[in-house]
Amino acid sequence: MNFDQISNLIGNENVPKWAITAQPGHEDVTTLTIADMDFETPDFILNNLVPASRVLGYEEPSDQYYDSIINWQKQYHHVSVNKNEIIPLTGVLTGISFALQKVTSPNDAVLVFDPVYGPFSMAVNNLNRELIEFDLTISGDGQYEIDFDKLKDTLSKQKIRAMIICNPQNPSGHVWTRADLLKLSELAQQNNIFMIADEIHQDLVFEPERYTSLFEIPGVEGYAIVISAPTKTFNMPGVQSAYMFVKDAFLRDQIKSLMDDQFISGISTTGVLATTVALTQGKSWHDELMKYLKENRDTIFELFDGTKIKPMLPQATYLMWLDFSAIGISDLEIDRKLINDAKVQLNMGSQYGQDGTGWFRLNFATSRDQLVKAVRQIIEVFG
Ligand SMILES: Cc1ncc(COP(=O)(O)O)c(C=O)c1O
Repeated sequence: MNFDQISNLIGNENVPKWAITAQPGHEDVTTLTIADMDFETPDFILNNLVPASRVLGYEEPSDQYYDSIINWQKQYHHVSVNKNEIIPLTGVLTGISFALQKVTSPNDAVLVFDPVYGPFSMAVNNLNRELIEFDLTISGDGQYEIDFDKLKDTLSKQKIRAMIICNPQNPSGHVWTRADLLKLSELAQQNNIFMIADEIHQDLVFEPERYTSLFEIPGVEGYAIVISAPTKTFNMPGVQSAYMFVKDAFLRDQIKSLMDDQFISGISTTGVLATTVALTQGKSWHDELMKYLKENRDTIFELFDGTKIKPMLPQATYLMWLDFSAIGISDLEIDRKLINDAKVQLNMGSQYGQDGTGWFRLNFATSRDQLVKAVRQIIEVFG
């Protein structure tokens, strides 16, 4: 795979990441926004999207599909699940929404960490649950951390029913450690809080970081679910395939029947095929991808050194969280200058919660040439 060669989506208004380039005057903007990669989806996936029967009829997910998830999780994440504990989904967010509907009731409080992937708050608000945003703090080594004393205090003052954990964390690429997860699950158990873990970025962890899935923590099965997907890893979010692990049989049946009632259950034949082939044949492509992404990460982290823009080093995924607060102008003005002067579009940090003010998120999953050029343009404008 030649990651230097990227697909050309310039001017395609139907691809949200590239839509800005369809606007007059913005054809030359490089967009480093939405978490799609600019690399082509690998051939071994594209070439295997035709069912053996050559019939795109109604079809239940095959045993090979379930086995591909079970084996991938066992081999790379040390998580043991069996077929009946897996609920196939069309998206991680669908899973989060359905889980919230079953583990909480209207007006119950749900905790998310701030900053975090914006749609978590939307899911909580859309379901008329009370949103509690718990501020993350930045440690001496420049990474996010959870102030556990403050969290204990929050939990003692307010009845929280569920928490959503993003691991690895979007927007910063921070990886929550086994020790963090142990403490979180202990607090969750003590306070009767249900844990929903979004692990969609779990395959994108850079050496030497070690990743721990929530389901590696002993005893959490009764009060936690894990949701993941192969779509970030293999750049195929368009096939809409994700899965949820629910170990508790009663809860699993409740979630499944809620989905059935709303005609949401089942994933497409293409989603089943893409998932199966990605997770059975994809490891060597994934290894190459991780090497390329790590070099991209290190290259631009160095470029930002000594500038007014302070990056947080992502321990995972292809997103870099950039602190622009030293520039001293509003986020809207920075955004305008990025697009009009630097000719680069980034995601504004306030999309990820109040604590994202002053920050921007950069997606570095593109060709190194394009990436370096875009980052140089940013530095030229902001210094
Ligand atoms: C943390 C996180 N969760 C969920 C999603 C969306 O997943 P899906 O399209 O499967 O709902 C994204 C996409 O960027 C993400 O970063």
